[in-house]
Amino acid sequence: MKNTKEINPRDGHTESPWQSVVSSVSDAAYASTGTGIFDVIIVGAGITGLTTALLLQKAGKKCLVLEAGKVGFGTTGGTSAHLNTFYDATYPEIESDFGKQAAKQVADSGKEAMAIIDALVKEYGIDCDLEYKDGYLFSENEKETVQLREILEASKRAGIAVAEVENNDVPVPFKLAIRFAHQGQFHPLKYINGLLKAFQQLGGTVIENCFVSAHKELDNGVELVAGEHTFQAGHLIYATHLPPGITAFSFRCAPYRSYVLGLRLKDKAENYPTGLAYDMQEPYHYFRTHVVNGEPLLIVGGEDHKTGHDDPEQAFVNLEKYAHQYYQVESVVYRWSSQYYVPVDGLPYIGRLGASKGNIYIATGFNGNGMMFGTISGKIISDQILGVENLYGDLYAPARLKPVAGFCEFVKENADVAWHFVADRFGTEDMDKLSELKNGEGKIAEFKGQKLAVYKDQKGKVTALSPVCTHAGCFVNFNTAEQSWDCPCHGGRFDTSGKVICGPPQADLLRVDI
Ligand code: FES
Repeated sequence: MKNTKEINPRDGHTESPWQSVVSSVSDAAYASTGTGIFDVIIVGAGITGLTTALLLQKAGKKCLVLEAGKVGFGTTGGTSAHLNTFYDATYPEIESDFGKQAAKQVADSGKEAMAIIDALVKEYGIDCDLEYKDGYLFSENEKETVQLREILEASKRAGIAVAEVENNDVPVPFKLAIRFAHQGQFHPLKYINGLLKAFQQLGGTVIENCFVSAHKELDNGVELVAGEHTFQAGHLIYATHLPPGITAFSFRCAPYRSYVLGLRLKDKAENYPTGLAYDMQEPYHYFRTHVVNGEPLLIVGGEDHKTGHDDPEQAFVNLEKYAHQYYQVESVVYRWSSQYYVPVDGLPYIGRLGASKGNIYIATGFNGNGMMFGTISGKIISDQILGVENLYGDLYAPARLKPVAGFCEFVKENADVAWHFVADRFGTEDMDKLSELKNGEGKIAEFKGQKLAVYKDQKGKVTALSPVCTHAGCFVNFNTAEQSWDCPCHGGRFDTSGKVICGPPQADLLRVDI
């Protein structure tokens, strides 16, 4: 049974199992903070923002976290919460594009992220279902087997504990399986609420429902505007995926949606996976078990696609069909999706923004490894602000020049953005009557000579919006599963009333009176 009590809101209509943990930020923070001057302002209260905030506050900095929704509103509230020392960018790919030394550094940064989570959990007594498990990666055909052998060898060279094994922990037939030792999983909202509590106890301030609409660089700091409030700080960190506005990162990171199911099985408890298992299909799938409200759930995820491109409902259908192939599914208890960003050269962008005067930082392009890269971002950025040398600063520097590795992808992604900018304007269908729209459905249509994003709610009330994304002018698409308007160009998302729920857009979709 789903939890029927209050749930933490998320940037989508579906519910993840983590949302039963509600953040404990009081609205009074807004009033008591007023117009403040801080050492550091962090925008975004997910794992990246709160890890960074806690490490800086602990080091004596006066920090303010501003969150547009509630704590965990974004991807942290919808992650599948895997802790891995191997990534969507594989070690052979990292070796080939950045070199063997870089692959080792990426491996080390993953181990350090794991150690940071472990240390924070112990230091602050965070009860977040943290468990360490083996991770299995397996091939199902000859081509995948060749790739998997390369992954095995390159992972070993990078210093990762991995070995060929005889099983893959799930009932999926396989050709070759390898096992990564000391991987993990946790409850992401329990974890970040633990970080939040520790941050507040150290004197840190968090303001929720506070949308940052603009910033201005000062000679030795930054001024931020959020509604009627203005804040100043020596340093500003955007822990929001993409920084707002049109920046180089709008073109270096491509937005993807990922899908997850929480399934109750007819099988006995011992048939649930004991570890974390991943196939190598395109799009890929993964399995793990999490005990939610006292019962084990099989977490199955995957079917990822570029935001605003494929049909989200179909992705859920495919995922459920996939799960049924291998497990006796009794019921779907949860189904949810969330967003992540794929960096053009495979590695995330973490640190000082090259285009700024040196006081603005970003952390983005985490691929599907947000818990790990979000955590290491906290360490890298806090070290940079504190003037401490960090081993990974150069590797992940947002200003790095890496034209070769991702160049083809870079061209492809930008061509894709341009295609949407032009083609979507011609692709709309005519709608004669609003009655053509079903309840709960949204559509881009030409209505009485005007292109509109029209949505009809469950009671039949119609909302009409301009379909033009306020970021860079692409046309949004309706996401039926999450009841949102998603932009196919840079992943901006809006709720059915047109309100921004996911950057980089800074303004809502325009309401149109019909
Ligand atoms: Fe960039 Fe919509 S998010 S155009």
